[in-house]
Amino acid sequence: MAETSSARGSWNSKLGFILAASGSAIGLGNIVFFSSNAYQYGGGAFYLPYFLALFVLGIPVMITEFGLGTMTNRSFPEALYRVAGRKAEFVGWWSLASALFITMYYVAILGWALGMMFGAFGSLFEGGVTAPFAPFSEPTDGPSATVYFFDLITTWWPLLCVVAIWTMNILILWKGTATIERAVRIFVPLMWLFMIGLIVRGLTLEGGVDGVLYLFTPDVQGIQEPAVWKGAFSQMFFSLSLGLGTMTAYASYLPKDADQVNNSLLVSFMNCGFEYIAGVAIFSLLFVFALNPVGGTLSLAFFAIPQGIAEFPWGVRLFGFLFFFLLVIAGITSSISLIEGPASALIDKFQIPRPQALAMVAVPGIVGSLFFALPQIIDPSLSGNGTLGLSLLDVMDHWAFNYSLLTVGFFECIMVGWVLGADKLRAAVNKYSKLPIGPWFDVIIKYVAPLLLGTVIVWNLIEEFTGETLYGAGADLGAFNWIPYVIPFIWLIGTLAVASYLTFGRTYKVAPAAYSPSDSPQTPA
Ligand code: TRP
Repeated sequence: MAETSSARGSWNSKLGFILAASGSAIGLGNIVFFSSNAYQYGGGAFYLPYFLALFVLGIPVMITEFGLGTMTNRSFPEALYRVAGRKAEFVGWWSLASALFITMYYVAILGWALGMMFGAFGSLFEGGVTAPFAPFSEPTDGPSATVYFFDLITTWWPLLCVVAIWTMNILILWKGTATIERAVRIFVPLMWLFMIGLIVRGLTLEGGVDGVLYLFTPDVQGIQEPAVWKGAFSQMFFSLSLGLGTMTAYASYLPKDADQVNNSLLVSFMNCGFEYIAGVAIFSLLFVFALNPVGGTLSLAFFAIPQGIAEFPWGVRLFGFLFFFLLVIAGITSSISLIEGPASALIDKFQIPRPQALAMVAVPGIVGSLFFALPQIIDPSLSGNGTLGLSLLDVMDHWAFNYSLLTVGFFECIMVGWVLGADKLRAAVNKYSKLPIGPWFDVIIKYVAPLLLGTVIVWNLIEEFTGETLYGAGADLGAFNWIPYVIPFIWLIGTLAVASYLTFGRTYKVAPAAYSPSDSPQTPA
């Protein structure tokens, strides 16, 4: 009985699925990481590679991940097992173990966003000394979001916020698709509304349009830099929620006859549309207030934007609050999907009740998130990343963001393209697609995507180890100088160990049948 898909849950409507999948895709990646990547790589130089990545990587891999979900009605590891055997299952678990690491710091960032959201009605926009007992506080002339942020993360409050965010995630996931659908029906439309509010505000300020021009004027010189391509590919995978089994888990709750080409196009375009809107809103603020975001990935969202909002002629607190509220809800509709991936895979493998699977993911997850929110100051000069939590987060993000997603994407294309045969996936998807995909899809999945991904990964690794120092080892972290060396090991050994154990150490309660095209109920007569 547990074998039936109704016991696993199913979406109530196609709209529910589209809201959930686009809610997964639209998140911190679109608001925080996209704009800081685009800024770092020079605006106009970034979006051409990014646009290309959407068509040659993003959409085809999304069709693949959605297709795997409906072909097998199982989450990522079992879906891969059914189409390509045990080795493929290993890739699935490796990706979910990586998803857990990413969730840990993703939730920590959301915890800070929640803290800033409360701050908007507290002293964030008041200036002066912002938080008691915080070592970075120096009386400032006006409000300083940077000071406020560092004051915040050097207190224990974010740990409480982290627990709050995890609790919300678990509540939303408690009854699976039923509760997810209820949450995304509220959060996803709200998220669009707030973003549109912000863009209207940004563009109606004098000078706002210059930011847009910076973002959209092509920079032919810039795109000759290989780093831009690496940034664009990683960002595309992250933004579309690919490479961590998320989209397969969500698609596995769809009926077999779902049109996955249509779904992939819808979700990808909604995601990238939102991303450009967010980019326009953020870049217009940057230019209006001549803000110069320095420092790491988070500085744009956490310092520069609130700083811009602080200079609004009216509505400072309201827009400040809305911006962080937007971050929190956009982030939660993504973090639930990051947690649902591993949880649904554990349910499929061990046929355990959902609360037990959620606990297996949430307990290590919360512990990890708390580490990333630790407030001890280990780098008083702030040349590195300030607190212990932020330093751990920065190094973990470097490895997980740049390697996990692309590596999984690479092996996924090999397994589906060569072991199963890209044509088989294409046939299964085309059976229900109003817009059938042509043989170009096979070429992309078998050759183009693995070649592009493989090149970027290898080239990344070469850069990594031929540089002066290992990532993050440049800063003086005193007694914590081990962080840049130990974190990559924890990530690599940890994810490989979990994946090996779950693939080879434990067997399926119900042995997975190999995929056969006749699995589909509506084989044409
Ligand atoms: N796409 C989300 C964002 O842009 C994050 C995310 C959710 C994700 N699920 C994922 C990233 C799976 C990679 C893989 O914020």
